[in-house]
Amino acid sequence: MKLRPSSKSSARDAFARAEAAAKFIRAKTKLRPQIAVVLGSGLGAFADALETATRIPYSRIPGFPLSTADGHAGHLVVGQSGGIAVAVMQGRVHLYEGYSPAEVVFPTRVLGRLGIRAAILTNASGGVNLSLKPGALVIVRDHINLLGRNPLIGPNDERFGPRFPDMTDAYSSSYRRAALEEAKRLGIEIREGVYAAVPGPSYETPAEIRYLRTIGADLVGMSTVPEVIAACHMGIRVLGISCVTNMAAGILDQPLNHQEVLDTGERVSRQFIGLLRAVIPRLAADLKA
Ligand code: HPA
Repeated sequence: MKLRPSSKSSARDAFARAEAAAKFIRAKTKLRPQIAVVLGSGLGAFADALETATRIPYSRIPGFPLSTADGHAGHLVVGQSGGIAVAVMQGRVHLYEGYSPAEVVFPTRVLGRLGIRAAILTNASGGVNLSLKPGALVIVRDHINLLGRNPLIGPNDERFGPRFPDMTDAYSSSYRRAALEEAKRLGIEIREGVYAAVPGPSYETPAEIRYLRTIGADLVGMSTVPEVIAACHMGIRVLGISCVTNMAAGILDQPLNHQEVLDTGERVSRQFIGLLRAVIPRLAADLKA
């Protein structure tokens, strides 16, 4: 008897399901965005400031997973930022909620089928690099996947992308440069760093944080990496921006809590929104070039 992985038909279905969800979204709006923004914990306010916006609850979009974490609203907002069409995900799902890697990246694939070519992925993170401070904004230069999972495991559907996607420039160097320039212009202090993704939901131990620092991580968080992998697979270029909402475990003499993560996100959200609004035209110009 020949053994083969069992998920072939579901991998095939994923494409059809992503197409169906994209078609549903297209029918709700005349806008045809090529840029997406995914907003992390406590960073949802950007979507509320969009022009000509259509808000679609995730619960209405066929196949969309529902976020269960506090601080994640669960709406896809298609609107305009400074006249540029954008699709904004107000909230995302995580592996720690019990979703499979394929479910976590389903929205990314829907965005890809919708015509998205550039994605700004934001998140909240713990600062691992000792020179960071809570409230700092950091452009993600690269990542370390410690989730123990990869959303591309299983049969490859070439309609999404190649079997072995290159991750060398996963966080587009030209987008990073554009974001650094815009931050400088706005007087926002910003740096670049490496994001380590861990499964959560428990925060890390102090020993784990020392380990992460040793292997070259500046930030730690529980999201983003599956989406970046799925985006890369589909040829979507990524800009990652992280808000350091707390210093990681064991650095300060205090326990970590989720409320601190949300509060810090709120505190820097104005700066964050300013940066997003400034970067979007740069990405739009780059797509046209
Ligand atoms: N660890 C993991 N994920 C996080 C943290 C943290 O300290 N802060 C925000 N997301």
